[in-house]
Amino acid sequence: MRLFSPQQLAQNAFCPQDYEQLAESYLEKGLFAYLSGGSGQEHSLADNRKAFHEIQLNSRLLNDVSKGSSELTLFNQTLAAPILLAPVAYQSLVDPQGEIATAQAAKTSGIGSVVSTLSSQSLEKVAQAAPPCKLFQLYLQNDDAANQALINRAVEAGYQAIMITLDTSVQSVSLKARRLGFVLHQQVEAVNLRDYDHNQNPTGKTLFQGLMAQAPNWQSLGNWIKQSPIPVWVKGVMHPDDAIQLKQMGVTGIVVSNHGGRALDNSPSPLRVLPAIRKAVGKDFTILMDSGIRDGYDVFKALAMGANAVMLGRLQIYALAVGGAVGVAHMLKLLIEELHLCMALTGCKNLTDIRADKLFIQPTQIQQSL
Ligand SMILES: Cc1cc2nc3c(=O)[nH]c(=O)nc-3n(C[C@H](O)[C@H](O)[C@H](O)COP(=O)(O)O)c2cc1C
Repeated sequence: MRLFSPQQLAQNAFCPQDYEQLAESYLEKGLFAYLSGGSGQEHSLADNRKAFHEIQLNSRLLNDVSKGSSELTLFNQTLAAPILLAPVAYQSLVDPQGEIATAQAAKTSGIGSVVSTLSSQSLEKVAQAAPPCKLFQLYLQNDDAANQALINRAVEAGYQAIMITLDTSVQSVSLKARRLGFVLHQQVEAVNLRDYDHNQNPTGKTLFQGLMAQAPNWQSLGNWIKQSPIPVWVKGVMHPDDAIQLKQMGVTGIVVSNHGGRALDNSPSPLRVLPAIRKAVGKDFTILMDSGIRDGYDVFKALAMGANAVMLGRLQIYALAVGGAVGVAHMLKLLIEELHLCMALTGCKNLTDIRADKLFIQPTQIQQSL
């Protein structure tokens, strides 16, 4: 069901996850499978939720939280909550305004947003609607001139940083979507790449001789870090050694992410590797985390496990499909209210109070990594 007015939204969505059910009932089956699905047999997709369920919270009494706040300063901007909208490709699949609508919702809600290389609205148009805390997500192209041009355009348009995604040199569309006959390329255009040759595998060569022969490596990443006039982030980090190397190379921050279970299947939930990565890079290095966040409690858990902030992928696209920009803003309102409730009942006045001692973890589970 597509909902438009704030009243309709308030009568049908009572928590952020309600948007998933509403989107499923409204969207065509193949499209919903493409959005909701993961790669391979979806083991990572399942673990992204399981890891959050394995952690519980310690209720704490009598702390004064009367002047509580979930504000966070990132890029010299104050965010109302430690949340950014993740880069999600081709948003016009679910809403004609696409990335412009999600950027508007992020701005209204006082959070940050990241626009994808594969956005269906141009990065320049999205920048005009976006909040002050805005990043451009870059999929490095085979053509250096195209990469340079994309970085220049992002700087010109006022993005504060480049977020390079490195976990999907090879990407596989959900098997469920394929079985339902969903074909992405017939429905979308990567408008940002219109002027460049962006066929990643023109000769149809095998994986190692084709895609992987052109994939970025440590050296090419190093060059882009040096050449970028604005800070560079890396998205898709899942190992402490990679995190250490990236920090040494000069990236400003990392996103611990398995691409919402859409990259390497059988990789663990990012929540499980987050504490070891935090330990490796130290407390002052900025870490974002995504994959599997569906409510305010999950945001709290991610922060307590070591993230400075989180990003939302599917929640954003479901809310966009159901209610456009107003839907995304409503979903964010519900999510931030849940985070506040969770902070109040665990006795956390601000984000720095959200630490591992607020978590109750069954001894046999994730505790060893803390
Ligand atoms: C439909 C869809 C498209 C995505 N497109 C991109 C993209 O263009 N670039 C990127 O870095 N990540 C992309 N992602 C991954 C998200 O940025 C994010 O890592 C992931 O969705 C987080 O998991 P969640 O959906 O469980 O919140 C996409 C995810 C989905 C579901």
